Amino acid sequence: MQLAPSLLTADFTRLGAEVEAAFEAGIRWLHLDVMDGRFVPNLSFGPLVIRALQPIAQHYGAILDAHLMIVEPERYLADFVAAGCDYLTIHAEATPHTHRAVQTIHELGAKAGVALNPGTPLGTLEALLPDLDLALIMTVNPGFGGQRLIHNCLAKVAQLDAWRTQQSRSDLLIQVDGGVNAQTIADVQRAGADLAVVGSALYQPNQTVTEALTMLRTALASG
Ligand code: DX5
Ligand code: ZN
Repeated sequence: MQLAPSLLTADFTRLGAEVEAAFEAGIRWLHLDVMDGRFVPNLSFGPLVIRALQPIAQHYGAILDAHLMIVEPERYLADFVAAGCDYLTIHAEATPHTHRAVQTIHELGAKAGVALNPGTPLGTLEALLPDLDLALIMTVNPGFGGQRLIHNCLAKVAQLDAWRTQQSRSDLLIQVDGGVNAQTIADVQRAGADLAVVGSALYQPNQTVTEALTMLRTALASG
Protein backbone atom coordinates (compact mmCIF):
# COMPACT_ATOMS: atom_id res chain seq x y z
CA MET A 1 0.00 0.00 0.00
CA GLN A 2 1.33 3.46 -1.00
CA LEU A 3 1.36 6.42 1.41
CA ALA A 4 0.00 9.74 0.11
CA PRO A 5 0.88 12.80 2.22
CA SER A 6 -1.81 15.41 2.84
CA LEU A 7 -0.41 18.89 3.47
CA LEU A 8 -3.10 20.35 5.75
CA THR A 9 -0.94 20.09 8.88
CA ALA A 10 2.37 20.80 7.12
CA ASP A 11 4.34 23.98 7.88
CA PHE A 12 2.94 26.40 5.29
CA THR A 13 5.81 28.81 5.83
CA ARG A 14 8.04 26.18 4.17
CA LEU A 15 5.65 24.09 2.09
CA GLY A 16 8.13 23.27 -0.67
CA ALA A 17 10.63 21.91 1.85
CA GLU A 18 7.91 19.85 3.54
CA VAL A 19 6.94 18.30 0.23
CA GLU A 20 10.59 17.72 -0.73
CA ALA A 21 11.23 15.95 2.60
CA ALA A 22 8.47 13.46 1.79
CA PHE A 23 9.81 12.88 -1.72
CA GLU A 24 13.35 12.48 -0.40
CA ALA A 25 11.98 9.77 1.92
CA GLY A 26 10.62 7.85 -1.07
CA ILE A 27 7.06 9.19 -1.33
CA ARG A 28 5.83 9.44 -4.92
CA TRP A 29 2.20 10.49 -4.43
CA LEU A 30 0.96 13.82 -3.05
CA HIS A 31 -2.65 14.30 -1.90
CA LEU A 32 -3.79 17.93 -2.25
CA ASP A 33 -6.80 18.86 -0.12
CA VAL A 34 -8.74 21.61 -1.87
CA MET A 35 -11.53 23.12 0.25
CA ASP A 36 -14.01 25.88 -0.65
CA GLY A 37 -15.65 26.68 2.70
CA ARG A 38 -19.03 25.52 1.27
CA PHE A 39 -18.79 21.79 0.62
CA VAL A 40 -16.74 21.61 3.83
CA PRO A 41 -16.56 24.16 6.68
CA ASN A 42 -12.95 25.05 5.93
CA LEU A 43 -10.88 26.84 3.29
CA SER A 44 -7.49 25.56 2.15
CA PHE A 45 -5.80 26.30 -1.19
CA GLY A 46 -6.38 26.19 -4.96
CA PRO A 47 -4.53 25.78 -8.27
CA LEU A 48 -2.01 28.55 -7.43
CA VAL A 49 -0.40 26.52 -4.64
CA ILE A 50 -0.49 23.33 -6.69
CA ARG A 51 1.18 25.09 -9.62
CA ALA A 52 3.95 26.22 -7.22
CA LEU A 53 4.54 22.63 -6.02
CA GLN A 54 4.31 21.02 -9.47
CA PRO A 55 8.00 21.46 -10.47
CA ILE A 56 9.09 19.67 -7.26
CA ALA A 57 6.71 16.80 -7.94
CA GLN A 58 7.87 16.61 -11.54
CA HIS A 59 11.52 16.48 -10.45
CA TYR A 60 10.75 13.37 -8.35
CA GLY A 61 8.28 11.85 -10.81
CA ALA A 62 5.55 12.09 -8.17
CA ILE A 63 1.78 12.00 -8.77
CA LEU A 64 -0.31 15.06 -7.88
CA ASP A 65 -3.76 14.01 -6.69
CA ALA A 66 -6.27 16.81 -6.02
CA HIS A 67 -9.05 15.96 -3.58
CA LEU A 68 -11.70 18.50 -4.56
CA MET A 69 -13.84 19.19 -1.51
CA ILE A 70 -15.71 21.89 -3.43
CA VAL A 71 -19.27 22.30 -4.71
CA GLU A 72 -19.83 22.16 -8.49
CA PRO A 73 -16.24 20.98 -9.10
CA GLU A 74 -16.86 21.04 -12.86
CA ARG A 75 -16.24 24.80 -12.69
CA TYR A 76 -12.56 24.30 -11.88
CA LEU A 77 -11.47 20.99 -13.43
CA ALA A 78 -9.52 22.64 -16.24
CA ASP A 79 -7.71 24.94 -13.77
CA PHE A 80 -6.50 22.01 -11.67
CA VAL A 81 -5.32 20.08 -14.70
CA ALA A 82 -3.53 23.20 -15.96
CA ALA A 83 -1.86 23.49 -12.52
CA GLY A 84 -0.37 20.02 -13.05
CA CYS A 85 -2.73 17.57 -11.34
CA ASP A 86 -2.55 13.98 -12.56
CA TYR A 87 -5.67 12.79 -10.67
CA LEU A 88 -8.78 14.84 -9.91
CA THR A 89 -11.15 13.42 -7.32
CA ILE A 90 -14.60 15.00 -7.02
CA HIS A 91 -17.13 14.24 -4.28
CA ALA A 92 -20.24 12.29 -5.30
CA GLU A 93 -22.17 14.64 -2.99
CA ALA A 94 -20.84 17.85 -4.60
CA THR A 95 -22.61 17.80 -7.99
CA PRO A 96 -25.61 16.07 -9.58
CA HIS A 97 -23.50 15.63 -12.72
CA THR A 98 -20.80 13.26 -11.44
CA HIS A 99 -20.67 11.20 -14.65
CA ARG A 100 -20.25 14.28 -16.82
CA ALA A 101 -17.51 15.57 -14.48
CA VAL A 102 -15.67 12.24 -14.81
CA GLN A 103 -15.97 12.48 -18.60
CA THR A 104 -14.62 16.04 -18.51
CA ILE A 105 -11.65 15.02 -16.35
CA HIS A 106 -10.78 12.36 -18.94
CA GLU A 107 -11.25 14.82 -21.82
CA LEU A 108 -8.79 17.12 -20.03
CA GLY A 109 -6.25 14.27 -19.99
CA ALA A 110 -6.29 13.50 -16.25
CA LYS A 111 -7.34 10.45 -14.23
CA ALA A 112 -10.74 10.56 -12.54
CA GLY A 113 -11.62 9.73 -8.97
CA VAL A 114 -14.86 9.99 -6.99
CA ALA A 115 -14.93 10.33 -3.19
CA LEU A 116 -17.64 9.16 -0.79
CA ASN A 117 -18.26 10.80 2.60
CA PRO A 118 -18.72 8.43 5.57
CA GLY A 119 -22.51 8.78 5.30
CA THR A 120 -22.68 8.04 1.58
CA PRO A 121 -23.38 4.40 0.62
CA LEU A 122 -21.00 2.52 -1.66
CA GLY A 123 -23.85 1.92 -4.12
CA THR A 124 -23.54 5.59 -5.11
CA LEU A 125 -20.42 4.61 -7.05
CA GLU A 126 -21.99 1.70 -8.94
CA ALA A 127 -22.97 3.57 -12.12
CA LEU A 128 -19.62 5.37 -12.18
CA LEU A 129 -17.25 2.48 -11.52
CA PRO A 130 -16.78 1.45 -15.19
CA ASP A 131 -15.36 4.93 -15.88
CA LEU A 132 -13.35 5.49 -12.69
CA ASP A 133 -9.60 5.34 -12.22
CA LEU A 134 -9.79 5.85 -8.44
CA ALA A 135 -12.34 5.57 -5.65
CA LEU A 136 -11.74 7.57 -2.47
CA ILE A 137 -13.39 6.20 0.65
CA MET A 138 -13.43 8.92 3.35
CA THR A 139 -12.77 7.60 6.84
CA VAL A 140 -13.44 10.98 8.45
CA ASN A 141 -16.00 13.68 7.72
CA PRO A 142 -14.09 15.97 5.36
CA GLY A 143 -12.82 19.43 6.26
CA PHE A 144 -9.99 18.94 8.73
CA GLY A 145 -6.86 16.94 9.41
CA GLY A 146 -6.18 15.29 12.77
CA GLN A 147 -9.53 13.50 13.18
CA ARG A 148 -10.11 9.91 14.33
CA LEU A 149 -10.63 7.20 11.70
CA ILE A 150 -14.25 5.99 11.46
CA HIS A 151 -13.66 2.25 11.42
CA ASN A 152 -16.97 1.15 9.91
CA CYS A 153 -16.06 3.06 6.72
CA LEU A 154 -13.48 0.32 6.11
CA ALA A 155 -16.32 -2.07 5.28
CA LYS A 156 -16.87 -0.02 2.11
CA VAL A 157 -13.20 -0.50 1.24
CA ALA A 158 -13.47 -4.28 1.64
CA GLN A 159 -16.70 -4.38 -0.42
CA LEU A 160 -15.11 -2.31 -3.17
CA ASP A 161 -12.01 -4.50 -3.15
CA ALA A 162 -14.21 -7.60 -3.54
CA TRP A 163 -16.17 -5.90 -6.33
CA ARG A 164 -13.07 -5.02 -8.34
CA THR A 165 -11.76 -8.59 -8.01
CA GLN A 166 -15.10 -9.97 -9.18
CA GLN A 167 -15.21 -7.54 -12.12
CA SER A 168 -11.50 -7.99 -13.01
CA ARG A 169 -10.90 -4.29 -12.38
CA SER A 170 -7.51 -4.46 -10.70
CA ASP A 171 -6.78 -1.14 -12.46
CA LEU A 172 -9.22 0.68 -10.13
CA LEU A 173 -7.28 2.33 -7.28
CA ILE A 174 -8.86 2.37 -3.82
CA GLN A 175 -7.74 5.30 -1.65
CA VAL A 176 -8.54 5.80 2.04
CA ASP A 177 -8.45 9.28 3.55
CA GLY A 178 -8.71 10.46 7.13
CA GLY A 179 -7.36 9.33 10.48
CA VAL A 180 -4.70 7.00 9.05
CA ASN A 181 -1.84 6.64 11.54
CA ALA A 182 0.45 4.01 13.07
CA GLN A 183 -2.49 2.58 15.04
CA THR A 184 -4.94 2.31 12.12
CA ILE A 185 -2.78 1.82 9.02
CA ALA A 186 -2.66 -1.99 9.19
CA ASP A 187 -6.48 -2.16 9.28
CA VAL A 188 -6.60 0.12 6.23
CA GLN A 189 -4.25 -2.15 4.30
CA ARG A 190 -6.13 -5.30 5.44
CA ALA A 191 -9.37 -3.79 4.13
CA GLY A 192 -7.81 -3.66 0.65
CA ALA A 193 -6.74 -0.05 0.09
CA ASP A 194 -3.98 0.72 -2.43
CA LEU A 195 -3.38 4.26 -1.20
CA ALA A 196 -3.52 5.68 2.32
CA VAL A 197 -3.60 9.44 2.82
CA VAL A 198 -1.53 10.51 5.81
CA GLY A 199 -1.76 14.09 7.07
CA SER A 200 -1.29 14.71 10.79
CA ALA A 201 0.45 11.32 11.18
CA LEU A 202 3.14 12.64 8.84
CA TYR A 203 3.36 16.37 9.48
CA GLN A 204 3.66 17.00 13.20
CA PRO A 205 5.76 19.65 14.97
CA ASN A 206 7.54 17.19 17.26
CA GLN A 207 8.91 14.78 14.64
CA THR A 208 10.58 14.84 11.25
CA VAL A 209 8.90 13.52 8.12
CA THR A 210 11.47 10.73 7.99
CA GLU A 211 10.75 9.70 11.60
CA ALA A 212 7.02 9.74 10.94
CA LEU A 213 7.36 7.70 7.76
CA THR A 214 9.53 5.14 9.54
CA MET A 215 6.82 4.71 12.19
CA LEU A 216 4.09 4.33 9.57
CA ARG A 217 6.10 1.92 7.45
CA THR A 218 6.99 -0.18 10.51
CA ALA A 219 3.32 -0.32 11.51
CA LEU A 220 2.42 -1.31 7.96
CA ALA A 221 5.04 -4.05 7.82
CA SER A 222 3.99 -5.57 11.17
CA GLY A 223 0.25 -5.25 10.41
C1 DX5 B 1 -9.91 15.86 5.25
C2 DX5 B 1 -8.90 15.60 4.14
C3 DX5 B 1 -7.89 14.58 4.54
C4 DX5 B 1 -7.11 14.98 5.81
C5 DX5 B 1 -6.18 13.87 6.21
O1 DX5 B 1 -10.98 16.59 4.75
O2 DX5 B 1 -9.54 15.13 2.99
O3 DX5 B 1 -6.97 14.38 3.45
O4 DX5 B 1 -6.39 16.15 5.56
O5 DX5 B 1 -5.57 14.28 7.41
P1 DX5 B 1 -5.36 13.21 8.58
O6 DX5 B 1 -4.48 12.15 7.99
O7 DX5 B 1 -4.69 14.02 9.66
O8 DX5 B 1 -6.71 12.70 8.95
ZN1 ZN C 1 -8.18 14.44 1.38
